[in-house]
Amino acid sequence: MILTKAFATISPKSPLGPFQFERRSPRENDVVIDVAYCGVCHSDIHQARDEWGNSIYPMVPGHEIVGTVSQVGKGVSYFNVGDTVGVGCLVDSCRECPACHESLEQYCEHGMVGTYNSMERDGHTPTYGGYSNKIVVREEFVLKVDPSLNLAAVAPLLCAGITTYSPLRHWNVTQGKKVGIVGLGGLGHMGVKFSKALGAQTVVFTTSESKRKDAERLGAHQVVLSTRSDEMESQNNSFDFILDTVSAPHDVNPYLQLLKRDGQMVLVGVPTQPLTVAPTNLILSRKSLAGSLIGGIKETQEMLDFCAKHKIVSDIEIIPIQKINEAYERVIRSDVKYRFVIDMNSL
Ligand SMILES: NC(=O)c1ccc[n+]([C@@H]2O[C@H](COP(=O)([O-])OP(=O)(O)OC[C@H]3O[C@@H](n4cnc5c(N)ncnc54)[C@H](OP(=O)(O)O)[C@@H]3O)[C@@H](O)[C@H]2O)c1
Ligand SMILES: [Zn+2]
Ligand SMILES: [Zn+2]
Repeated sequence: MILTKAFATISPKSPLGPFQFERRSPRENDVVIDVAYCGVCHSDIHQARDEWGNSIYPMVPGHEIVGTVSQVGKGVSYFNVGDTVGVGCLVDSCRECPACHESLEQYCEHGMVGTYNSMERDGHTPTYGGYSNKIVVREEFVLKVDPSLNLAAVAPLLCAGITTYSPLRHWNVTQGKKVGIVGLGGLGHMGVKFSKALGAQTVVFTTSESKRKDAERLGAHQVVLSTRSDEMESQNNSFDFILDTVSAPHDVNPYLQLLKRDGQMVLVGVPTQPLTVAPTNLILSRKSLAGSLIGGIKETQEMLDFCAKHKIVSDIEIIPIQKINEAYERVIRSDVKYRFVIDMNSL
C-alpha cells in the first residue's frame, strides 16, 4: 500500500484539514503519480458541502491534477517513470458499453468512476482526489501533458478546460458564429479562451463590473453586464450558441431570448435548484436548451494538445493547501482570478 498525505473534509459543515490514508499498490495497468498541482473547481465546494446530496465522507476533493509518474505497473505500455501527466474528473468506467466504446466514458451506462466522491468498480472502495501527494490511476485514464508548459496553469484544463472545450466542439462553434459565455469564473474564462481560439465572436456575460477589463484581455469581443436589462436586450436574437457556466441559481430565460432561431444554450454550471423555463422561449424560434458533462479521455487529450499548440493555459492564483478553506470562500464570492491551484509541495 502507498501511504498518502491529503486534505479532507468529514462533514458538510467541516473545514478541510490534514488526513492520511493508503492508496492501492500499483496493479498491472496502474500508474502512480506524484501530484505537483491540483486546481480548485467549484464542484469541489458543491460536493465538500453536500450541495448535490450525494457526498461520501471523509472526502478528499480535487480533479484537476498534474504531476510526474513515479511508478508503473508491469502491463503499462503508454507511460514511463518521469513522464509529466494529468488526471481529470474520472479514473475508471466499464470500458465496454456503447458510450465507453465511443470514447465518451463520462456518459458510461454503468456510471463512470469519479476521481473522488465515488466508488471504485468493486462497489465499496471510495475514491480520493487530488488534494493529496500521490494518486494511483489505470493508464487508460491518465493524460499526457507537455512538460514545457506552466504545469500549475495546465492543471485547470483537466476539468475547467475540457468542460468548456467539449460543448464548443460538439455544437460546432467556428469562425463566423456568435457565442455567449455566461459567468467569468474558472470554467467561464476557459470558455472565452477556447471560443476565441476557434474563431467565434465571443461575448462575456458577467455580474461583476470589475471583471470587464479582464474579460477583454482574455479575448472577449464584447462584455455585457447581465444585471442591466438594457445591455441584455440590446443583444436579443443575435446568438448562435450560449454556454452557461454559472454555479448558483439564476434565470436562464433572458439568455434564451438572446438566441437566434435554431440557437442552442448549453448548461455546464450545476446550481442546486431546478430551473424554470418559459416554453415559448424555446418554441417560438425552435431553440434548444441542453447540458454537457466534462469530456471523454480521447477528447481531453485532444484539448490538451490543442492548448499546447495554441499556447492556452488557465489564469491562476497558486495557494498552499493550508489556504484551501479561505480559497473556497473567495470562489463563492466570485473573487477568483480565475482559478485557484494548490501547490502540493505545501502538504
Ligand atoms: N458540467 C460539468 O461537467 C461541470 C464541470 C465542472 C464544473 N461544473 C460546474 O460549473 C459551475 C461553475 O464552476 P466554476 O469552477 O467555473 O465556478 P466559479 O469559478 O465559481 O465560476 C462561477 C461564476 O458564475 C458567476 N456567478 C456566481 N454566482 C452567481 C449568481 N448568483 N448569479 C449569476 N452569476 C453568478 C460568477 O461569474 P461573474 O462574476 O462573471 O458573474 C462566477 O465567477 C459549478 O456549478 C460547477 O459545479 C460543471
Ligand atoms: Zn471540476
Ligand atoms: Zn461504460
